[in-house]
Amino acid sequence: MLPPLAAALASAAQAPQARYGDPMMLDSLASAGQKLFAADGVAASHLTITSGAMDAIERVLAAQGFRVGDRIGVEDPGHIPLHQLCRAAGLQLVPLPVDPNGITPDGLAAALQLGLAGLVVTPRAQNPTGAALTEERAAQLSEVLRPHPSVCLIIDDHAGPVAGTQYQSITPPGQRWATVRSLGKSMGPDLRLALVAADQKTIARVTVAVSNGPGWVSHILQRTAAHLLTNNKTERLVEEAARSYQQRRDALIQALSARGIAATGRSGLNVWIPTSNEQAAVESARNAGIAIRAADPYRIVSPPAVRATITNLSNTNIQELADALARVDTNHAAAM
Ligand SMILES: Cc1ncc(COP(=O)(O)O)c(C=O)c1O
Repeated sequence: MLPPLAAALASAAQAPQARYGDPMMLDSLASAGQKLFAADGVAASHLTITSGAMDAIERVLAAQGFRVGDRIGVEDPGHIPLHQLCRAAGLQLVPLPVDPNGITPDGLAAALQLGLAGLVVTPRAQNPTGAALTEERAAQLSEVLRPHPSVCLIIDDHAGPVAGTQYQSITPPGQRWATVRSLGKSMGPDLRLALVAADQKTIARVTVAVSNGPGWVSHILQRTAAHLLTNNKTERLVEEAARSYQQRRDALIQALSARGIAATGRSGLNVWIPTSNEQAAVESARNAGIAIRAADPYRIVSPPAVRATITNLSNTNIQELADALARVDTNHAAAM
């Protein structure tokens, strides 16, 4: 039997293919997307589809008409391509400190004092730290943002339901906002798809940009996504994956704690392990046959750490990794 993605693709490829001039977004995907966003309380009367979350964020940023030198708030540590993309757009990065519950209200308030044109926030499965917003944190951040209606709020929900924590929404302070939900982590990265709900003007501009560039996102892929999003079997598989990731995160955090090392990761694919010697930690893990990443490229001003991706770690790997990190002659800082 074909796995769900292959079966959905095979069936989507049988349907008539899109032609020049056809509507950009399939009705079946638009209605699946609307339901998905509505379930999380995100207004989705204006919706589009892009080739993944980063494609969406690049186009949403371009749609705002930011000027070179405008300031953008980004998570520190944060997703490297996002930092690069903002730099490439001529924007000045303002670090937003992250704790296990997401960006901090004090950090956001300090960044807003500098005058932000926009900010990009990961609500769960924060990369690299595994942070996720709590309901209380999301409410605090909404409050801090409220007096700043000109700020554009971009939410990067790249992991969606596989994050293992509920979506928590921050209220956009004004007219400019976008919430991006990638299907990459939950359905397969090679689908290259993300749903985007945003204000009317942003969606109109992103739609024109896609139409002038790639033309549209392949309807074969859109049909596949619509099928997967409305299929109970897929939903169960995603829930199972979320549970399995959570077990692995918890097991690694526990194994490290048993060795006196504080680590965090409430959500998603990663566990975050503060350490004073990133390179020694990476090397020790490598000697045990496990690849982890130094925090250095993810950081702006935040302190050193390493990131362990738990998706493929067996129970034995988890113990081996914890042993390897315990062998490193370094200070493992207290958890964030
Ligand atoms: C925070 C974050 N955003 C976006 C992405 C990429 O999403 P997509 O593959 O849909 O472009 C990743 C991938 O790891 C990520 O960590």
